[in-house]
Amino acid sequence: MKKTLVLKVNAAAPDPAMIEQAAAILRQGGLVAFPTETVYGLGGNALDLASVQAIFEAKERPSHDPLIVHLATLDDLQTVVSNAPAQAYTLGRYFWPGPLTMVLPRAERIPLAVAAGGATVAVRVPAHPVALALIRAAGVPIAAPSANRFGRLSPTRAEHVLADLDGRVDLILDGGPTTVGVESTVLSLITSVPTVLRPGGVSVERLTEVLGDVAVRLHTSDAQEIAHSPGMTLQHYAPQARLILYQGASGALLRTLRAAVMHFNTQGIHVGVLVAEEDLGALKDLPATLKSAGSLAHLDTVAQQLFETLRAFDQAGVGIILARDFGPQGLGLAIRDRLTRAAAGHVVKIEPA
Ligand code: TXA
Ligand code: MG
Repeated sequence: MKKTLVLKVNAAAPDPAMIEQAAAILRQGGLVAFPTETVYGLGGNALDLASVQAIFEAKERPSHDPLIVHLATLDDLQTVVSNAPAQAYTLGRYFWPGPLTMVLPRAERIPLAVAAGGATVAVRVPAHPVALALIRAAGVPIAAPSANRFGRLSPTRAEHVLADLDGRVDLILDGGPTTVGVESTVLSLITSVPTVLRPGGVSVERLTEVLGDVAVRLHTSDAQEIAHSPGMTLQHYAPQARLILYQGASGALLRTLRAAVMHFNTQGIHVGVLVAEEDLGALKDLPATLKSAGSLAHLDTVAQQLFETLRAFDQAGVGIILARDFGPQGLGLAIRDRLTRAAAGHVVKIEPA
């Protein structure tokens, strides 16, 4: 058991002495959790096999699920990948720093464990002053998965990291809540057509504007695809309570939700309902814990609130969470992906009446 230190940092202008303290821990092989614009990451020196192994251990993450390597600038790309295509630089100029992770051919110096034994490596430059200052000060690329235990919800606040990893990480830099709230988009540039393996903070629409042609391959139970991107396994990002996702046009969706609440309520189950702000009025009479993650017109807010709202249901002690879908457009696809995973595939598709 380590002693976990928590330091509050100014998210916009972090104290250089504090950053240096964290960077020294990383250089010595320790682990530091830090905020990015998406979620908190659990960082270790990506070039040091022992640090990389320590990350897997702290998270209890299976060794077949590869890590994202974080850089301070696009210029450092050639230090971790070999023969990046021109497309990678185009994307880097558009979206970095930002919530886009690119899967590229791995450079020899990246330990195999980072890549879970594969020939590729996932890379991104995060858009957060604390993350950037830390990577720069450490002077090495930083491997960092989300700072949660495997299979749990990603942390959007330092408190969430502490709840999962107290005693397993040397230092947590507390920069307050993250702004994007869902993880980065993982885009493979290995395939002939660039392929989204995980929708996230950069929408498929924006990638399509830049690339023209983009394929999307989402969560799956297909063993071969899981071997290709292990993060695609269906059950992931799970709250403690069972979750059911409802997809369909708003009117029919709300009617189905209402009936489902009554069904579980008569079984004596404490029901949580995750809806949009617009739904609150229509559902407020229901015998359930009703929470909105934000407006259908502001999916950036919904994404930012999503994991925290799911955690709040667990805190409220609900026995089941019934969640509405927020559509496939923009950030809606990432929200749908996380809710589908939280539901472990239990999705009710409502046909229009
Ligand atoms: O926003 C984020 O991406 C956050 C912050 C901390 O940067 N990180 C994050 O890491 O979400 P993690 O480890 O929780 O998720 C990484 C995802 C997993 O789905 C993993 O399977 C996929 O990226 N991945 C990593 N390396 C890969 C590779 N070489 N090929 C295909 N997929 C890869
Ligand atoms: Mg994760």
